[in-house]
Amino acid sequence: MATHGFPKSNAYDQTVVREKIMGPNPLKLLEELLQDHAIPCDGTVMDLGSGQGITSVMLAKDYGFRVFACDLWSDPTDNLRFFERMGLSTDRVVPLKTDAANGLPFAREFFDAVVSIDSYHYFACDPAFLDEKLLPFVKPGGFVYIAVPGMKDDGLHEDLPAELLLSWTPEELSALHDAAYWQTLVNQAQDADVVSVHEMDVNEEAWNDWLACDNEYSVNDRASLDAGAGAYLNFVAIVLRKR
Ligand SMILES: C[S@@+](CC[C@H](N)C(=O)[O-])C[C@H]1O[C@@H](n2cnc3c(N)ncnc32)[C@H](O)[C@@H]1O
Repeated sequence: MATHGFPKSNAYDQTVVREKIMGPNPLKLLEELLQDHAIPCDGTVMDLGSGQGITSVMLAKDYGFRVFACDLWSDPTDNLRFFERMGLSTDRVVPLKTDAANGLPFAREFFDAVVSIDSYHYFACDPAFLDEKLLPFVKPGGFVYIAVPGMKDDGLHEDLPAELLLSWTPEELSALHDAAYWQTLVNQAQDADVVSVHEMDVNEEAWNDWLACDNEYSVNDRASLDAGAGAYLNFVAIVLRKR
């Protein structure tokens, strides 16, 4: 297993991180995902499913990208205030309320890259999503970097382990899939080449950071993880290049 020191993620005030994350540590997921990235250093990047904006801050501050923070559930005004608090003006990060499944509000071929952390499974399981809803906004030769929570083996859905059911319903778990599922899904895109689909190293560490938070969702997730459900879960990294 590769070792990741996560220097960028660990440099953040962990009180702020715990306040803003909405699941397993998205900063560490992002840092591992972008380890050998090929996005131009002054590139324009969409943070798709940006949540409360902590990954958008990292994309702007630590990678130097101009970022559009696109999210459905969070309040863009709250995110704007957070970006200001983090010293970022709207020429660095722009918050938007957007539904990725219903048409993103951008010009075609606007982005050098799209990054999506712990969100893609909510809106992108339709095989047509990439060609119809996302890739039109990426420049030819641009990239899509995705980190999605998954199941180590989709066969587990046939007889869900009791540990998983301590925190989640079968319906919630139905969004989690193995790397083979994601490979098959993204292989169907006509307008992108699949660069890689692989299990990430950061899984356990990202979960531990999340379980150390004190909100109703992290508290809910503790029952499963404390019982050993982490053995069935992973994160899958997906990297695509627009044709
Ligand atoms: C588990 S949260 C992760 C947020 C953030 N990336 C993080 O890791 O902290 C999932 C995010 O997906 C976003 N989301 C769900 N459906 C969406 C859609 N149709 N369009 C855009 N964002 C969506 C939600 O708004 C939510 O912020």
